[in-house]
Amino acid sequence: MSKLALFGGTPVRTEPFSPWPQFDEREEKYLLQTLRSRKWGGYPYPSKLSVEFCRRFADYHGANHCVLASNGSVTLEVALKAAGIKAGDEVIVPNYTFAATAACVVRCNAVPVFVDIEERNYCIDPDLVEQAITPKTKAVIPVHLGSSCADMDRILDIAKRHNLIVIEDCAHAHGGQWRGMGVGSMGDFGSFSFQSSKLMTSGEGGAITIKDETHLQKAMSLINCGRKEPGYDGFDGLMFGWNYRLGDIHVAILQAQMDRLDEVTMSRQKMAAEFRDLLHSSVNGLRVLDPDPRQTRLHAYQTVMKYDPAQFGGVHRDRFLEALEAEGVGFHGDFYTALHEHELMDAKSDQYPMLRERYGDGIHSVKGNFPVSVKAGYHEAVWMHYSYLSGTRKDLQDVVEAILKVQSNVGELAGR
Ligand SMILES: Cc1ncc(COP(=O)(O)O)c(C=O)c1O
Repeated sequence: MSKLALFGGTPVRTEPFSPWPQFDEREEKYLLQTLRSRKWGGYPYPSKLSVEFCRRFADYHGANHCVLASNGSVTLEVALKAAGIKAGDEVIVPNYTFAATAACVVRCNAVPVFVDIEERNYCIDPDLVEQAITPKTKAVIPVHLGSSCADMDRILDIAKRHNLIVIEDCAHAHGGQWRGMGVGSMGDFGSFSFQSSKLMTSGEGGAITIKDETHLQKAMSLINCGRKEPGYDGFDGLMFGWNYRLGDIHVAILQAQMDRLDEVTMSRQKMAAEFRDLLHSSVNGLRVLDPDPRQTRLHAYQTVMKYDPAQFGGVHRDRFLEALEAEGVGFHGDFYTALHEHELMDAKSDQYPMLRERYGDGIHSVKGNFPVSVKAGYHEAVWMHYSYLSGTRKDLQDVVEAILKVQSNVGELAGR
């Protein structure tokens, strides 16, 4: 009789872990208020509710300004356009992230330049950023990935020396801090997503934190179809915009999510440390990426681990994760893969001609050398969603027990 649940054994865990997104009577109250106000949309722009929310969100992150938009993809695009990125400009992005981090560049008719990530935190490698700079480089988009922060000390220094715009992709990082500074407050822009898997969510939605007043006004115009109205008319000419407004029904939910942001961030930070201790003291071959001591408040979105097949009888990560899922613990391996060859990154030069010079027929035509992204994406990285940190210590013990069970019966896996 097999022990592993994958082959008919009894799973370690059958009850579900904490559900997400979380909500309580606060979401219900704010939603009902907004419903009854009959002000459901985002126009006239900006709505009073969104201005109130933006002030709180900016303050919590130590940012000067904030605006909302319909998701965390268009926030990146709006930031690039507000910064004045033009056709043919180069923007440096990490090769291990969600497609939007690079696709936003293509959507501006600019050229994403992929660079590899650091081994220690899977965030963009500052040495490689510096090497990738050409006279056409205008911006860099570091991503604060999983629970890591990109090395903002190095990136800000490089950006200053080379006069680059910095857009922090904070889609994973609500509430995070680097040396006491909130994510999204250090670069020229921070881009946040409120999509349903994120730390703060309204189902869909996004926010841009912004340092400079003129950038703010341009971003507002871009989000509101290019209108130029009192409050956001302090720049020359007109912006060519689109409707990227977020409606107040979403903002109502965000009000409640904002109410609990500090509390849940602190509690997840504590649970993340407990999980790391429990895992590292019990299991060899699966280690959480070390948080950088400069991360003074951990955002703990996904806990990202490194898998060492040598400690699991040579079994590939994906097979191990299949067995783990059967035990009731659903982690992800290929959450991200090397972006330059990802199916969502198949931008063609016929449609985006500025890509041709660097990429021939399109981004997929070029094979790069990205050993760390490739190793993380296809062999090494293991991602645990934050909902596992929103429950009890018993949940964490069950997770570790399931990992240990698969590890001790790995021979069954290798044999089939
Ligand atoms: C790193 C990163 N950037 C950008 C985005 C885009 O956000 P959205 O899904 O709200 O468009 C995501 C969302 O998955 C993300 O993970």
